[in-house]
Amino acid sequence: MGLLEGKKLLITGALDEKSIAWKVAERSFEEGAQIVLTNAPAALRFGKVKELAEKITAPIIPADATNLDDIHNLIEKTMEHFGGPFDGFLHSIGMSPNIRKKREYTNLNYDFYIKTLDISAISLHKMLQVCWEKDALAEWASVIALSYIAAQRVFPKYGDMADAKALLESIVRNFGYWYGKRKKVRINAVSQSPTYTTAGSSVPGFDAFFNYADKMSPLGNADADECANFCVALFSDLTKKITMHTIYHDGGFHATGVSVEIMTEFETKNE
Ligand SMILES: NC(=O)c1ccc[n+]([C@@H]2O[C@H](COP(=O)([O-])OP(=O)(O)OC[C@H]3O[C@@H](n4cnc5c(N)ncnc54)[C@H](O)[C@@H]3O)[C@@H](O)[C@H]2O)c1
Repeated sequence: MGLLEGKKLLITGALDEKSIAWKVAERSFEEGAQIVLTNAPAALRFGKVKELAEKITAPIIPADATNLDDIHNLIEKTMEHFGGPFDGFLHSIGMSPNIRKKREYTNLNYDFYIKTLDISAISLHKMLQVCWEKDALAEWASVIALSYIAAQRVFPKYGDMADAKALLESIVRNFGYWYGKRKKVRINAVSQSPTYTTAGSSVPGFDAFFNYADKMSPLGNADADECANFCVALFSDLTKKITMHTIYHDGGFHATGVSVEIMTEFETKNE
């Protein structure tokens, strides 16, 4: 459809073909965008980002999203590549060392906790602040961060990532205000259904998360391809006045109290 014809976008977080960011990069390219890819140096060694980069003729600029020097370099090189300010970025970065080490919410390691918040939420602030300092985003640029409904409701096995997502969504609102005033830049969080990816599947009990959400959602879970389509819409000029939102891309899960399918599983008589 050419929805992103002429747009210049920076995409973080594509690790392999299951990554949500991978699909967003592919779909944005199909819609006419020029892309720069970035990921943490370790992910570039182990992941398949080069494969994607060749497919969509995008340069890869390594950056640890917690490291300010790396982010300065990333934003500078991205501007150099595009020849000036660009039209937005996707923040698709999440990792919890506590979850990796199987530490539940009541038994957090606090160094890990700070790492979780830094990687999964504060990195969005760092990227935005560096863009702000360098005036790197064009007017009406669109910034998207990926979130999960554990920011609003309790999903016990999601651990400290729930706090990271709550912080991420707060940064979306607060920076959305400042950048909207200054440059008409819009910033939104897309709260996505459980999706089979490296980060997703690392959450304990992920199959249960996935199946429960699928049975609760009137439209069923949204997959990564559908998420990519939605991100294209948010990057496009058709959504210019949407900002500072958490938008649920979850087949209606967020608004459903209980579904008939779930009720039938609990139909045993109590007397
Ligand atoms: N998969 C799901 O069920 C689901 C649901 C809702 C939201 N999300 C969110 O979507 C986003 C993308 O995750 P995904 O599911 O595509 O998994 P993924 O594992 O493919 O992507 C996560 C990415 O974060 C990157 N990353 C980790 N630490 C980093 C660092 N220090 N610097 C730079 N990059 C770093 C990884 O290299 C990886 O590419 C995350 O924010 C995740 O929380 C995922």
